[in-house]
Amino acid sequence: MANESKFYPYARIVAGVAIAAVLLILISNLQGFFVRPEDDPEWTPPPGSEQLAQAATGEQQVASGPGADLYAKHCATCHQPNGKGLPGVYPPLAGSELLQGEPARPIAIVLHGFTGKIQRNGKEYNGVMTPFGNLLSNEEIAQILSHERSSWGNSADAVTPEMVAQVREMTQGRTQPMTEEDLMKLEPVSQ
Ligand code: HEC
Repeated sequence: MANESKFYPYARIVAGVAIAAVLLILISNLQGFFVRPEDDPEWTPPPGSEQLAQAATGEQQVASGPGADLYAKHCATCHQPNGKGLPGVYPPLAGSELLQGEPARPIAIVLHGFTGKIQRNGKEYNGVMTPFGNLLSNEEIAQILSHERSSWGNSADAVTPEMVAQVREMTQGRTQPMTEEDLMKLEPVSQ
């Protein structure tokens, strides 16, 4: 009994500190109920959750579908997933006038490739884009270009497989990549 009373004051202090710690932990955990993780600026949704949420609500994601998949597979390595390209190396497709203008021009670029000095947004490019005419069908090229013309803030009409067929026919036998000068000479495709 004597021992117990000797340690009693310390025991009280220890117990007090322990209770305070437990209370602190409880309070900090409780905050989790009031502060949703989404409100935290550093919080990012787990991968795939956005698509799941959209699938659940039946909402269509803007950048989905066959055109987006084909873009990711064949074009994004150079022009980047965000369509911004690499300054001075690969021109941006986001905001590109050429891409959103007369469809015959971007179609011919995809079919035959593209080379020569060009100026875009104050930057010079002098690269070589490889041709895709033997790799992609008219349908696939139409899907990719329709995707690009309506993504990243772009808003131009869809490209149809018939338009791609017209340009294939028009430029048949061509073995060199297009130049900007060649593009300007192309006949417009009928809509
Ligand atoms: C190997 C890298 C590479 C790949 C892959 C590539 N491009 Fe390009 N692309 C370029 C380069 C380089 C240019 C500019 C050529 C030049 O400098 O004359 C260009 C230019 C363009 C332009 C013209 C943009 C403008 O404003 O002048 C379009 C449209 C385009 N590409 C579409 C595509 C599409 C569609 C695909 C996929 C099917 C694709 N590119 C794949 C490298 C690439």
